[in-house]
Amino acid sequence: MEIKKLKKNALFNPEGDIELRFRKMIGGNTTNLNDFNNMRYKWVSDWYRQAMNNFWIPEEINLTQDIKDYPHLEKAERTAYDKILSFLVFLDSLQSNNLPTISEYITANEVNLCLHIQAFQECVHSQSYSYMLDSICSPEERNDILYQWKTDEHLLKRNTFIGNCYNDFQNSQDGFTLMKTLIANYILEGIYFYSGFMFFYNLSRNGKMSGSAQEIRYINRDENTHLWLFRNIILELKKEEPELFTPDKIGVYESMMREGVRQEIEWGQYVIGDDIQGLNKQMLEEYILYLGNLRWHSLGFGFLYEDHRKEPESMRWVSQYSNANMVKTDFFEAKSTAYAKSTALEDDL
Ligand SMILES: [Fe+2]
Ligand SMILES: [Fe+2]
Repeated sequence: MEIKKLKKNALFNPEGDIELRFRKMIGGNTTNLNDFNNMRYKWVSDWYRQAMNNFWIPEEINLTQDIKDYPHLEKAERTAYDKILSFLVFLDSLQSNNLPTISEYITANEVNLCLHIQAFQECVHSQSYSYMLDSICSPEERNDILYQWKTDEHLLKRNTFIGNCYNDFQNSQDGFTLMKTLIANYILEGIYFYSGFMFFYNLSRNGKMSGSAQEIRYINRDENTHLWLFRNIILELKKEEPELFTPDKIGVYESMMREGVRQEIEWGQYVIGDDIQGLNKQMLEEYILYLGNLRWHSLGFGFLYEDHRKEPESMRWVSQYSNANMVKTDFFEAKSTAYAKSTALEDDL
């Protein structure tokens, strides 16, 4: 069977469709006009507002305490800190470069608006890691950490898996390959960041590197909106392009999800292991299996791992950190740190 290539978005296209009923996620004919009043995908308004409210600047977070803490970290903590940061920098760099490739084939202008904002946020994330490293270590150490993914065999293996997924779409732009890229994105945003995030939150709950954890909380908040965006794109495609959701294709997405979960557990256990106070391999595994279930289920596909439907007791503390709209010192007050609500950014350290 011949594989049908997707039509690339036209750029200057006066003949594009204005009527909403013709607008489609892929294969449509858009004028590219940013019309905020006529949106086919109504959820975009809420998404856009949330993303704008989440605006933040890495340097607004004070890292003075981290500069003091970093040299005194236990050896295992410091090794994990460096390797996790190296992985996160790679992920965010790859995201900022890959998103424009995806949006070239998305023919709903309002959804492209979201993808562009996401790409901007991925740049901010990359810069926040740079700010963290510039603050706590020498330029030589910083460069060593940034490029560890080329010398650490585990890191290289991880990055190769993700990089290859994204490269596939660079080489063949058909609907099924796009869907696999969207699923890879969804896994990246919803699974791959999480061993890293929980490591930073754990350090912070042990009274270490609280500024770094705060940076991560803002990143985590953005990643939640990215996850929301990709979930919605996938769910819309499910309605519009049923041929991309035949049982055998869903089987491919499912095995990608399982492989993503497996790799994240393997990576997390390598980088965190059993030598860090407050975390161990089992906690990590249970949490990632639970996340895999959560992600797969929210695409409307049921559960992957029967015994891991509920958030593990031992990891309840993670959501207190990952919900960045809660003030760290008083969860019950539930004060928002969103940019639109003024002083929260500088107040909550
Ligand atoms: Fe990011
Ligand atoms: Fe992201």
